[in-house]
Amino acid sequence: MGKTIGIRYLMLIMASLSITLFLACGDEATGPEAGSGDWQWYEVGDFRFDWLVEDSLSSLRIIMKAPTTGWVAVGFDPTSFMNEANLLIGYVSGGTAHIRDDYGTGLITHDADTNLGGTNNVTMITGSESSGETTIEFRIPLDSGDQYDKVITEGTTYLIIFAYGANGSDDYTSQHTWAESVSLEI
Ligand code: HEM
Repeated sequence: MGKTIGIRYLMLIMASLSITLFLACGDEATGPEAGSGDWQWYEVGDFRFDWLVEDSLSSLRIIMKAPTTGWVAVGFDPTSFMNEANLLIGYVSGGTAHIRDDYGTGLITHDADTNLGGTNNVTMITGSESSGETTIEFRIPLDSGDQYDKVITEGTTYLIIFAYGANGSDDYTSQHTWAESVSLEI
């Protein structure tokens, strides 16, 4: 009797082990981010910045969220204010999300990479507006090769700037109502 219970118990353990192994393998097979590490996040004021280094795609996936129905932006590696930063500015208008790859052309000026002779290197994933907040998820290459972008190396600390515009500022040009800079290890 004791022996039968022992064998049944052993079989039960083996069955649960196989299920666990099966699920673990399934997880690894899904999504481009498999095996490339976890999402990280940072909050400054009421701006939230989430990022994931996607090794397999040599890209950086980003979610930016701020309390505005206007534009939201993140910028990498400025020399001062927004000068020489790789800027990504997005907004949601009429349910459609838009994003543009910009470059800081001065302390308080910026322009689209494409207007400067560079290339647009941002890929929109999804964007939404809800309860007065805008969320934009997108992807940029770690090294686009464009002179108006910055090379991003995992494990390196960069000065990163965040800003957002007034409610309804669905454009790439109006000034922010809030801006901040932080040092973050990507
Ligand atoms: C055409 C659009 C923009 C205009 C006219 C503008 C203008 C200005 C001005 C006048 C300042 C100095 C005074 C202040 O702090 O308000 C400033 C600072 C700053 N801006 Fe902009 N800006 C624009 C877009 C952006 C964008 C897209 C970003 C990207 C994240 C940004 C990030 C910053 C940062 C981080 C500062 C420094 C704030 C501080 O250290 O206190 N700006 N901008």
